[in-house]
Amino acid sequence: MSTITTDRPNLAINGGKPVQEESILILKPMITEEDIQAVSNALRSTFVSGDGPACREFEKNLAAYLGVKHALFLNSCTTALDLAFMVKDFPHGSEVIVPNFTYTSTALGPVLNNLKIVLADVYPDNGNLDVQKLESYITEKTVAICPVDYAGNPPEMDEINAIANKHGLYVVQDTAQSIGSKYKGQYTGNQADVSTFSFHGTKNLTTGEGGALVTNDDEIANRIKIMREKGTDKYSFLTDNQTRGYYEYVDKGNSFVQSNINGALGITQLARLDEMNNKRREIAEYYLSELSGIKGLDFIKIKEGVESNWHLFGMLVPPDQKYWILDALRAEGIHCNVHYTPLHRNKYYQDLGTDKDFPGSMAFFNRLLRLPIYPTLTISEREKVVEAVQKVFAQI
Ligand SMILES: Cc1ncc(COP(=O)(O)O)c(C=O)c1O
Repeated sequence: MSTITTDRPNLAINGGKPVQEESILILKPMITEEDIQAVSNALRSTFVSGDGPACREFEKNLAAYLGVKHALFLNSCTTALDLAFMVKDFPHGSEVIVPNFTYTSTALGPVLNNLKIVLADVYPDNGNLDVQKLESYITEKTVAICPVDYAGNPPEMDEINAIANKHGLYVVQDTAQSIGSKYKGQYTGNQADVSTFSFHGTKNLTTGEGGALVTNDDEIANRIKIMREKGTDKYSFLTDNQTRGYYEYVDKGNSFVQSNINGALGITQLARLDEMNNKRREIAEYYLSELSGIKGLDFIKIKEGVESNWHLFGMLVPPDQKYWILDALRAEGIHCNVHYTPLHRNKYYQDLGTDKDFPGSMAFFNRLLRLPIYPTLTISEREKVVEAVQKVFAQI
């Protein structure tokens, strides 16, 4: 392949006129008057603390939407991952397999519970756990696997579950990015022992900060209702109609419940989730139709059986030109970035002694750039994004 000629004067990076004067952001939450009204009503109710009536309603609606037995609203996905391991009391030093290409929170769940993370490689075309390599990481100390739905695309959960069953392993699926995505016709949240969603401001459904742990396991759900409320049995005190007048400290835990104000936002956001995800799909389809066939440009591979919620739109670009393309697109007024850096390249994980090579993970990272995608991205903004990518790639 020929290399990009970087000296073209028409490019904004070289002093030319940018495609877009005011930068187009890479992400933006969609907040409507209905959301604002719901939050305002929650405030007016004066029930502002955790686990209130709006939180319960959001949990009920979320469980019904996903088709799961229990959805527990929490203050983040990081918290959900912590609880997913806290609830199991695995012996200290037990091993948990975590994909190397993920956000730090996936690894923090086991780390915070004194477990050893074993980093696993991912596919170079979509950043998901490489199932061919998975069994090679399993030892007699392995207790769990944490697959991640990068960009909102679930990995090969049937194959991962088959390996987990064979070795008696617990599966925690980090579904932080995949609310509303489907795997083989079923929403994510249904394919693991426990799944953990994020409702951070960057996600397809937001409660500001927030997350949920979902499971079909009653025992796990019941203990987590206690653990998320500082190890107390306040949940049953509030719901079982017994007139005891107090609640007790029955387990370890932390303060992980979510405010009723955020619960109210969750209800209105969830009611619009399909509409918001459809808008993202429209944008992704437009990008794909306009940008396919450009030399040197490829896209995150969506595997068979996956219906994406298009949390991210990822381009795969020539690795030797990646940072130049990033700068050139930014100069054209298109915000574009790279997320994540593989765990083993980060100081904290280097200090944990993760010194293996991760060829799939590095190949993916070295080509990945993200374009703006969110429901309120206007038609003219989408056109500008496409125009800028075409302008920059015309230099190849
Ligand atoms: C894969 C993954 N896991 C966990 C998180 C953390 O989510 P939260 O901010 O809700 O804790 C993120 C956030 O982007 C993520 O991408």
